[in-house]
Amino acid sequence: MNIVILAAGQGKRMKSALPKVLQTLAGKPLLQHVLSTALDLQGKSAKTGPIVVVGHGAADVKEFLASVTGQDLRFGKVTTVLQAEQKGTGHALLQALSKLDVKEPTLVLYGDVPLTSKKTLLKLAKLADGVRGQDCALALLTQNLSNPTGYGRIVRDLDGSVKSIVEEKDATSEQKRITEINTGIMVLPTNFLKKWLKALRASNAQGEYYLTDVIAMAVKDGVPIRTAQADAEYETVGVNSRDQLAALERVHQINQANQLMDAGVSLADPARIDIRGTLECGTDVFIDVGCVFEGCVTLAAGTKVGPYCIIRNSVIGKDVTIHPYSHLDGAKVGVGSLIGPYARLRPGADLAGDVHIGNFVEVKNSKIAANSKANHLAYVGDSIVGSRVNIGAGTITCNYDGVNKHQTIIEDDVFIGSDTQLVAPVRVGRGATLGAGTTLTKDAPANQLTVSRAKQISLQWQRPVKQNKKVVSKQVTAKKPQKAKK
Ligand code: UD1
Ligand code: MG
Repeated sequence: MNIVILAAGQGKRMKSALPKVLQTLAGKPLLQHVLSTALDLQGKSAKTGPIVVVGHGAADVKEFLASVTGQDLRFGKVTTVLQAEQKGTGHALLQALSKLDVKEPTLVLYGDVPLTSKKTLLKLAKLADGVRGQDCALALLTQNLSNPTGYGRIVRDLDGSVKSIVEEKDATSEQKRITEINTGIMVLPTNFLKKWLKALRASNAQGEYYLTDVIAMAVKDGVPIRTAQADAEYETVGVNSRDQLAALERVHQINQANQLMDAGVSLADPARIDIRGTLECGTDVFIDVGCVFEGCVTLAAGTKVGPYCIIRNSVIGKDVTIHPYSHLDGAKVGVGSLIGPYARLRPGADLAGDVHIGNFVEVKNSKIAANSKANHLAYVGDSIVGSRVNIGAGTITCNYDGVNKHQTIIEDDVFIGSDTQLVAPVRVGRGATLGAGTTLTKDAPANQLTVSRAKQISLQWQRPVKQNKKVVSKQVTAKKPQKAKK
């Protein structure tokens, strides 16, 4: 099947510098949603991918397509055609004509209608199916709306057969009362489409070449016209303004939340979760309010995520507890670990089982083995940390010399006192203890106490006393404080 996605329009009502189809829903451009569904529909074996008609902001749209090819190679199959001037939906499709395989039917999608399901599109394609290509019918996805204002209306004969589509601006007041609307999504016989598109005229209220005018042409040519509806209204909702985008985002999020709950996940409030990517959960996962998941996130069975956590591209093991306000990005967390509150795991944080990372602790590009703890105010970067290590409050691995990054190795059973700086590259041997306040610039031997610290001294000393201002003004000279006795 040929798939053409119309995406040349400007989207004036968004009042944005970004082309409308690049506005994001659930963290992905609207066009990416449509393309993913189109690619799914065509399957891996398809020789050519969907054709995107670009126009307004064409350079940005092409740049976006080039950027997603890296993430998903299937996007490499997508081709673009330019509609230099936006003269209507019929004119847009005309630009793609030379790329269409006449033996296959053509599915038209809109780049700003992001949530049409594969199931609905398969239903529509099946409805159009004749003996492939040549004899296929014309299938229209329509919708009954209580308020059809603004949409093209489906005009039917007395016997119920579709006669034409009339646009709102060209409709008579009687036609405006029709509640069945054109969603714009349709499957057409490509051989006929070639002829019809060339015959389109712009003699209408908007002076545009309407794709919808091909319906009356199909009636004339005796091509059967069939209609189908999507299971849910949101599947055919287009985005024209920011309020519509926000409304559709909420619909999409609540749908995702419902799917999670169906799969055995508990959500404190299904209206207060945002999934911008894919979230896979085991059974009995609990997610509290205000959490945002980005990219690919996995939460294994029994894991609990506290309120207001942000988790991106991370794999979280079984029975992990992530306390409130934690931020995880590119992290792996092992079974039974405790994270946060206010913890930050950055890319390459790889924690084994039962690791504790507490408040205001940042871990980057570091492997931490089982049962180790950094419970308060620490930075662990570019490190390899063994098992049963205790990293005291305020400990910092000084991994960066201003030019290069260096590694810190902390072996098993090490105890690091508070406020220690480990100036990398440096190694702390197995079972070593570092005294609080140590600045470690050389390797610390195993099983010994290493301390680097100025000697503690105590002096007789008189703390200066704040003098009363009035008293000071009466005095001519102030007394010097007495010297401390040695
Ligand atoms: C269109 C339909 C209308 C339908 C409605 C559904 C026509 C004539 N009308 O109207 O029956 O009810 O969609 O939302 O088809 N586009 C281009 N190039 C152009 C014009 C549009 O690529 O020159 C693209 C837009 O980017 C958009 C889609 O086509 O993705 C629809 O265009 P839009 O201007 O929104 O059409 P409507 O007037 O809403
Ligand atoms: Mg529109």
